[in-house]
Amino acid sequence: MLEVTNLLVFYENAVALNDFSMKVDAGRLVAVIGSNSAGKTTFMNTVSGLIVHTRTKEIRKGGERITLYGQVTFNGEDITALQPNERVEKGLVLCRERHPIFPESDLVENLKIAGYLRKRSEVRETIDYVFHLFPTLERLKTRKAGFLSGGEQQMVAIGMTLMVKPLLLLLDEPLLGLSPIMQKTLVDAVVKMREEAGLTIVITEQFARPILPIIDFGYIIENGMLTMQGTGAELMDSPEVKAAYFGV
Ligand SMILES: Nc1ncnc2c1ncn2[C@@H]1O[C@H](COP(=O)(O)OP(=O)(O)O)[C@@H](O)[C@H]1O
Ligand SMILES: [Mg+2]
Repeated sequence: MLEVTNLLVFYENAVALNDFSMKVDAGRLVAVIGSNSAGKTTFMNTVSGLIVHTRTKEIRKGGERITLYGQVTFNGEDITALQPNERVEKGLVLCRERHPIFPESDLVENLKIAGYLRKRSEVRETIDYVFHLFPTLERLKTRKAGFLSGGEQQMVAIGMTLMVKPLLLLLDEPLLGLSPIMQKTLVDAVVKMREEAGLTIVITEQFARPILPIIDFGYIIENGMLTMQGTGAELMDSPEVKAAYFGV
């Protein structure tokens, strides 16, 4: 479904992704794991097209700061040069790291704003699904989103991406800054989205521990370079992963 080949991304002359390749088959749950600054967000922005968008703006401004090599293929089509909105139309949707919400609008309004291009019946259906996925959100329906907790806002952010009807959902560090209990709620929701909604999911994380047990396949990156890859079970068994991510 998604294939990323030899990605090379520079900011000025600092390399953020160094010849990184990966692929995701339909229906799979795949992780890209790496510590802070490893290149996870750069990867997500490259796949979602945000980096193409930023680059286009910079070229118009007269400076070219980002250099991008490599190829992104989605369902057999080369989408490397497409803008983010064109990728969203194809079903490739990113929930950004600390995804922005509309703090002055209430929870349901946030979901509706995200689904503004869709039919009313579909919007209603998806909102119901979001409440099924995150039951705690239902009683907070009319709460201003800015007054929700970090974890609740993260649930709303994921809900907003579901409103767009993704085929492939990209989740950039959804567990960042959340309590262990909230992390578990989100991890359970990720499993459900894959099983119930049939979504293909790519998740980036610096916390390997809650993620490795649920993934089909994972890629470990350091300084933008692939250091290891394998199934969740293989990675959990690896001494290097244990040392780096489990502190043993
Ligand atoms: N817009 C940017 N301009 C310059 N350097 C950046 C930019 N975004 C990220 N970087 C650098 O690229 C590297 C990878 O960053 P990032 O992709 O955000 O990693 P992660 O999400 O894994 O923390 C880091 O060294 C970071 O400082
Ligand atoms: Mg990041």
